[in-house]
Amino acid sequence: MKKITLTLLPMLFLFLAIGFQSCTKDDEPKEFIADDNTFANFASWSLDVERQGMDPSLGAAHGGNDSTTVRKIYFKDGVKRSGDEYAVGSTILKYSYNSNGQVNMRTGMVKRGNNFDAEHNNWEYFVLMPDGKIASDANGNKMRGANLLNGMCVGCHSGASGKDYIFTK
Ligand code: HEC
Repeated sequence: MKKITLTLLPMLFLFLAIGFQSCTKDDEPKEFIADDNTFANFASWSLDVERQGMDPSLGAAHGGNDSTTVRKIYFKDGVKRSGDEYAVGSTILKYSYNSNGQVNMRTGMVKRGNNFDAEHNNWEYFVLMPDGKIASDANGNKMRGANLLNGMCVGCHSGASGKDYIFTK
């Protein structure tokens, strides 16, 4: 009886170890498809960057760029790059506004994964409503995609391709 337990125990550990390993693998989603809830309550996320004033690299992107423009960048769950890349599901929002109310824009990026845009590290770009819901354009199409606004977002963010397309962190 004792002998059997002794030989069974290591086998049990082995099974458990394999079980846990496959668990962590399954937990990493292959693809994350954002919806209207993804950016909800963004103001309570980790506010990692807050800047004010002109940034020559921005041009007129993100709604405007003058001495009064404030730019806040929120990282959901405080996500960080692990190695060279952000994990699938990483969600980041930038809120630009200014004192006279002329600038008031929320843009988002979500690491969608699953070869969504393999050439540019599989990010999806978004324009958002004040409550974080995904905005629609004048034709009623959702403002989301790898090539949102004819590739304007990804075109400029390619300038940060060495940091997985994220400028600030
Ligand atoms: C002309 C260049 C340019 C364009 C076009 C542009 N961005 Fe950005 N974006 C930046 C820069 C520079 C930052 C860094 C933050 C800062 O200094 O304000 C940034 C920051 C961000 C961030 C915060 C994460 C980061 O990279 O730091 C998000 C999210 C974002 N942009 C989304 C978008 C989306 C969505 C679009 C298209 C609708 C877009 N951007 C178009 C230059 C651009």
